[in-house]
Amino acid sequence: MNIEQLLAGRTHKMSVNTIREILKVVAQPGMVSLAGGIPAPESFPLDILQVLTTNVLEKYGPAALQYDPTEGFAPLRKALAYDLGSRKGILASPEEIFIASGSQGVLDAAGKIFISKGDPIAVESPTYLGAIQAFDPYEPRYVTLESDDQGLIPESLENVLARETVKFIYLVPTFQNPTGRTIPLERRQRIAEIIQARDALLIEDDPYGDLRYAGQPIPPIKTMAPDNVIYVSTLSKVFAPGLRIGYYIAPQNVRDWLVIVKQGVDLHTSTFNQALAAEYIQGGYLKKHLPHIIRLYTPKKDAMLAALVNYFPKEFTWSRPEGGMFVWVEGPEGYAMRELYYRCVKQNVAFVPGQFFYTNPANGIHTMRLNFTMADEATIDAAVKKLADIIKARHFLYPQD
Ligand SMILES: Cc1ncc(COP(=O)(O)O)c(C=O)c1O
Repeated sequence: MNIEQLLAGRTHKMSVNTIREILKVVAQPGMVSLAGGIPAPESFPLDILQVLTTNVLEKYGPAALQYDPTEGFAPLRKALAYDLGSRKGILASPEEIFIASGSQGVLDAAGKIFISKGDPIAVESPTYLGAIQAFDPYEPRYVTLESDDQGLIPESLENVLARETVKFIYLVPTFQNPTGRTIPLERRQRIAEIIQARDALLIEDDPYGDLRYAGQPIPPIKTMAPDNVIYVSTLSKVFAPGLRIGYYIAPQNVRDWLVIVKQGVDLHTSTFNQALAAEYIQGGYLKKHLPHIIRLYTPKKDAMLAALVNYFPKEFTWSRPEGGMFVWVEGPEGYAMRELYYRCVKQNVAFVPGQFFYTNPANGIHTMRLNFTMADEATIDAAVKKLADIIKARHFLYPQD
């Protein structure tokens, strides 16, 4: 059967998630991988899952297994409203919080309701690959925003919005994937002013805000421009990604559309998983478990930054995140990181070439993303040393030479 001729035109814009493909390669035995982007299994609160499950069955019984409203499981919305208000300063009633199947589900839904072919949307460069993958099938025209070590440069946003009306702006302001960068308070305030003045819509994707290992928390942009921001977050990094619990707070007219989209996609997110999440937050388990996750990741982050200082050639620079899961490394302009990747994989050490995080991959060929959550400190040290040794032993700056 010729499936090709049956496929919709939009499939030409769909591609496999390159990183997922890379992860298959690097899952080979003996490989030391800094390529992953997933939480450490030790971060999952396995020890309390039995208790959570018992509590859920006692409290909700069959309701935890029944169909439920698309908007989300009421006790979870209530628990999140309290948690977001008390810990992040986001003031929202339970009725204003909507549950999604991971934050990824919100990104696709946003693409579906806002983007017609050729519509401009503004993104950081680099940005989260999964967002590019979610938006691509709707065929947007990407307008790239400039960033530096402190993330998005507000003037760049101002210039873009002065030039054209974008459908939305997509940002990961805190411990960004892939760079680990965080937009400081003053810039956030400026960004909030700009989007309010231009009546622009911002999707603020915040999966990593809770994973802070140093410094002071910075309020989400949502708190500064509530009517212009769709705030999206997830329990994937602070509970368990396999449960697929994401959530969002959006302006009224937007959230109605997002709910209609979700009705057509999956009716609602797993009731049982939402009930577990409600119990996890409401029962105080999240608050107790978060410090454990932070204690687990802090030395890993420190080990990676120390190893980069100790081993990497002086021509390379890297981000120094205070949280999240990633460090971003830049080689000299023109350095072919993808070539380096192939050489490294042959020697059983892996990372993600950074070009996949650019809407125009030609811009990122000299960059790489390193993950520090999966390996232990000694392994991180050894892997970074090995990477550095491969870079140095070749005596090349430009592997294509
Ligand atoms: C920036 C960003 N947004 C969204 C997601 C998707 O997370 P979820 O598991 O909630 O779908 C990720 C996952 O790594 C991410 O890094």
